[in-house]
Amino acid sequence: MCWSVFLVCVFITLMQGQFPPECMTPAGLRSGTCCPSPTGLSNDKCGSRTGRGVCYPHYRRDDRERWPLRFFNRTCRCNRHFSGYNCGQLCRNIIQMSPKEKQAFINALDRAKRTTHPDLMICTQRYEEIFGLDGNTMQCESTTIYNFFVWTNYYSVGKTYMGPGFVTWDRYQLMQLERDMQDMLGDPTFALPYWNFAIGGSECDICTDELLGARSNFDMNGISSNFVFSQWWIICESVEEYETLGTICNSTESHPIRQNPAGNMAQPMIHKLPKPQDVIDCLEMSHFDTPPFYSTSSQSFRNSVEGYSVPQGKYDPAVWSLHNLANLFLNGTGSQIHLSPNDPIFVLLHTFTNAIFDEWIRIHRPDAVAYPKESTPIGHNLHFNMVPFWPPITNAEMFVPAPVSLGYSYEIQWPTLPFTLSEVFTIVIVVMVLVLESAHASCECTARRRDWISCSGNKPAVTQKMNREGRSFSL
Ligand SMILES: *[C@@H]1O[C@H](CO)[C@@H](O)[C@H](O)[C@H]1NC(C)=O
Ligand SMILES: *[C@@H]1O[C@H](CO)[C@@H](O)[C@H](O)[C@H]1NC(C)=O
Ligand SMILES: *[C@@H]1O[C@H](CO)[C@@H](O)[C@H](O)[C@H]1NC(C)=O
Repeated sequence: MCWSVFLVCVFITLMQGQFPPECMTPAGLRSGTCCPSPTGLSNDKCGSRTGRGVCYPHYRRDDRERWPLRFFNRTCRCNRHFSGYNCGQLCRNIIQMSPKEKQAFINALDRAKRTTHPDLMICTQRYEEIFGLDGNTMQCESTTIYNFFVWTNYYSVGKTYMGPGFVTWDRYQLMQLERDMQDMLGDPTFALPYWNFAIGGSECDICTDELLGARSNFDMNGISSNFVFSQWWIICESVEEYETLGTICNSTESHPIRQNPAGNMAQPMIHKLPKPQDVIDCLEMSHFDTPPFYSTSSQSFRNSVEGYSVPQGKYDPAVWSLHNLANLFLNGTGSQIHLSPNDPIFVLLHTFTNAIFDEWIRIHRPDAVAYPKESTPIGHNLHFNMVPFWPPITNAEMFVPAPVSLGYSYEIQWPTLPFTLSEVFTIVIVVMVLVLESAHASCECTARRRDWISCSGNKPAVTQKMNREGRSFSL
């Protein structure tokens, strides 16, 4: 009885909370207007005569109202890692792609190496000489999409590496290549995959003819002649000539890519790729960068991932780690800083570096204060433009979480800490305790059931012993 009264009350309250009774008449509902008058006067809707309110129109006519309901009431909402208008974009581990997808990616890269960049030119002289000998002939030329990517690296290198901008610059360079390739392919969901180089060991798992090209049978330092990248020739090789003559790299290609993974006999330190633990260690660093904001910074996440300090943060001139180590491991075009992007492995190596940067942002959630505003190398200050991107874009614009602010994220499984020896012992002890406990419990039950022998005397002794051992191992 009480209950039914209560339920009726609740029901009436809910009904009243939904719509005012004045509006809930057939005529009222059809009029689409629910603007009762507090005085009961018809020209005093919402008490407008005394300034209490207005009968506010919810314009269904304006297409932009409650965007995008006027057009569509169902749209894509992409789950983790996917992005793009149809959730078709996914930055994946190249190893995990299907043979068809791998082939499509290699073909796309090769097409980018041969397709003229539709929008941008490179200038092949410094500003002083750029008007040409007659003072009227611009010293600029077209180049291909991929060679433009290589050239941007050459033009700014030394200025873009070894400083906080390493990660922000790198990220934009990759985004630009990705966008250029999307336009070239007419496929807005095209995404650059990554190479997880933190696998330890001295085997280059992507150096196969199914992926980036195996070693040539005829030339230790060449790419297999069956493979398309053996036909790629490099640009920007004459670094010393540019320096001495005061010229700038142009789009002249000089010779094939050199590559000899794990082949640098002179330096055993760069025979092995970075280890998963190195990634874990550098992700733990809490400071984004530290003075002098250079390759000599210690306890700097940026300098650790770039690879001038050990992954745990200490600067050590004798150490090459993460990004640097993966480049040097290639012992060829990819290990020479001005030339490295000529080897397409560069792209995959850097997308992984960018993924580490993004994971660091996700974990540490830095605000802009974490990034230095001044006293950095040229073009590295937070609000300075990054050389030579066009239109100009600042480091700050790339110091953001990519999934939220840049519209992409990586499908990636980050390495987790392996068990240490003492943890393994602790686990063994816990398992032993559990096994003994259950054996003991079943013994107790049996004992009780049969009224035969009591096991209870053993119990404290076993527990005590295990506890003592457990403690000493977990210290
Ligand atoms: C979405 O819009 C369609 C077409 O106007 C309509 O038939 C449908 O009921 C709407 N669905 C929802 C959930 O509003
Ligand atoms: C392009 O660069 C090469 C190598 O530095 C140089 O020899 C050549 O003269 C340059 N070409 C032009 C048109 O500047
Ligand atoms: C490759 O390794 C050899 C030593 O084995 C070294 O002399 C050479 O300079 C290295 N090449 C590059 C480009 O790093």
